[in-house]
Amino acid sequence: MIKDLSAFYSKTARNMKRSEIRELLKVTRRPDIISFGGGLPDPSTFPVKELEEISCQLLREKGGTALQYGPTEGEAPLRREIARWMSREKAAIKPENILITAGSQQGLDIVSKVFLDPHDIVLLELPTYVGGLQSFNAYRAKMIGVPQDSEGMRMDLLESALTRLARRNKKPKFIYVVPDFQNPSGVSMSLERRKKLLEMAYRYEIPVLEDSPYRDLRFAGTPIPAIYSLDDQDQVIVLGTFSKLLCPGLRIAWIMAPAEWMDRMVVAKQSMDLCSPTYTQLMVAEYLRRGHLPAQIENIRRLYGKKLKIMLEALNKHMPKGVTWSKPEGGLFLWIELPKGVSATALFPKAIEKKVAYVVGSAFHCDGKGQNAMRINFSYPSEQQIVEGVQRLAEMLRENM
Ligand SMILES: Cc1ncc(COP(=O)(O)O)c(C=O)c1O
Repeated sequence: MIKDLSAFYSKTARNMKRSEIRELLKVTRRPDIISFGGGLPDPSTFPVKELEEISCQLLREKGGTALQYGPTEGEAPLRREIARWMSREKAAIKPENILITAGSQQGLDIVSKVFLDPHDIVLLELPTYVGGLQSFNAYRAKMIGVPQDSEGMRMDLLESALTRLARRNKKPKFIYVVPDFQNPSGVSMSLERRKKLLEMAYRYEIPVLEDSPYRDLRFAGTPIPAIYSLDDQDQVIVLGTFSKLLCPGLRIAWIMAPAEWMDRMVVAKQSMDLCSPTYTQLMVAEYLRRGHLPAQIENIRRLYGKKLKIMLEALNKHMPKGVTWSKPEGGLFLWIELPKGVSATALFPKAIEKKVAYVVGSAFHCDGKGQNAMRINFSYPSEQQIVEGVQRLAEMLRENM
């Protein structure tokens, strides 16, 4: 019998890290804990009835196709519907620009597989989406963080990073951004910064990876154009998903990219799963064809907008002095910062004692920073749990800060 299996692991496997969030969430499944930790949609928004009807009809009328293998690129009707959906913001998006993936998380993996060799550089805003960090890390990329403020990634700091790298003859493989109601901070990148980002991407000839699962969940303020809609040089790859608009369980998402970049991504996906599930693809295609999505999104916006309002009111009322938080205009998350020197990581067990959970800010960093911050989710807990949870959190902070 082999004693040390790990001797057989590849460098890639050894380099993979477990998601801190998924580990923490194990504790927070306890029913007595109010969890602000996950990033789950409110299941009451799932369009169960419409999907049940579509599913029955699909199996009855097209069962042979729905349960068969399909093309790696994805089912034609779904690619058509998504191209139409994405054309709301930019004309001339074709089904050929769309590759269906099993969640955007697979999109991140595919892009990483196609673009990254070990030690390649990825520039990203900090804090950033933990699943992005996980994918880039798995492919052994070197991640360079660019701090953000209330308008998103700091372009002056991006520019200095790019100049520094250019001086050393180094070219990042892409710049990764989550520009709309970012996970974890809730911040959206301003229009001026989006334009500046593209300007720099063109000047330094670097692709931009725009990961935008929350874009359509705006509850307040004025919409800001998507980065891809401002791009006239075919330099932006977009990750889109129905996880937060319909439900995550169907695992339907997409990569949108210039047609000439598609081939490598399709081949990369082929070796992962041959194709995404035909059945759920055809369900979503039919859901979109029937025109259900706009009303569904409106419903989610109303519900989450109300929950966010309740959370902001509770934070205003209960949080001790010195604690600050972002004020998102959409999405699922907000970001709380504790006074310098107070560690959200060290306080996590205290929060669990008070039966409330969050995700520690350091999980969203690749440089060990973010210790004094936490991510808070407001889509999943009920309105009552939001009020109660904020009270528990504030009490814990008052006692320990
Ligand atoms: C920024 C970002 N990208 C990608 C994902 C992955 O989403 P999914 O794989 O469900 O499409 C998430 C999920 O929370 C996210 O927040």
